[in-house]
Amino acid sequence: MNDDLQVESVGDRLEGKTVALCVTGGIASVESVKLIRHFRREGAEVNVFATPEALKFIGKAALEWAAAKPVITELSGLAEHICTQDIVVIAPATINTVNAIAAGIAGNVVTTLVASALGQKTPVLIAATGHHSLYENPIFQRNLKELPKVAPAITFIPPKMEEGKAKLPELKQIVEASIASF
Ligand SMILES: Cc1cc2nc3c(=O)[nH]c(=O)nc-3n(C[C@H](O)[C@H](O)[C@H](O)COP(=O)(O)O)c2cc1C
Repeated sequence: MNDDLQVESVGDRLEGKTVALCVTGGIASVESVKLIRHFRREGAEVNVFATPEALKFIGKAALEWAAAKPVITELSGLAEHICTQDIVVIAPATINTVNAIAAGIAGNVVTTLVASALGQKTPVLIAATGHHSLYENPIFQRNLKELPKVAPAITFIPPKMEEGKAKLPELKQIVEASIASF
């Protein structure tokens, strides 16, 4: 591999594991490059799935560079939507994506991958972010509580509440939660 794409190892706790890192259209998607590299530093292979809205915030080339792999932005005959990864991590997850998952919608690369993951009980970690008005939306709040009951493979990682916003927790906390789910 081109040495520009390599990461320095900090551990091997995700050695041999594949992580589907799903990026959706929140401003926190600008953190995705760092998050992908934190996963790789623990030995994970990261496959990135990005919604069209996510790509308004973060460039495909940056995600590709971080993962050292092509980014999946649309479904093709290669059936990328059938989950073959060990874990699915949605960070950041928009309120729209969480509500779509709760409704069973498989309408883009992320929600279709999650639909497949849940059908085979693959762990799905979700870090939802957004302005407090979105985060406190009663439909979203109901889904936050009910989804893990319907689909026990789902775990929500609590956000950091700051400046009237639900922000991504520390990136290393997302990696630790992923490791803990194995
Ligand atoms: C500047 C900006 C920031 C946004 N940040 C968020 C956010 O943090 N959380 C969220 O749920 N939606 C946010 N949105 C709205 C989403 O982009 C919108 O609901 C979109 O349809 C989500 O699509 P996706 O879930 O398919 O990625 C933001 C929109 C804009 C324009």
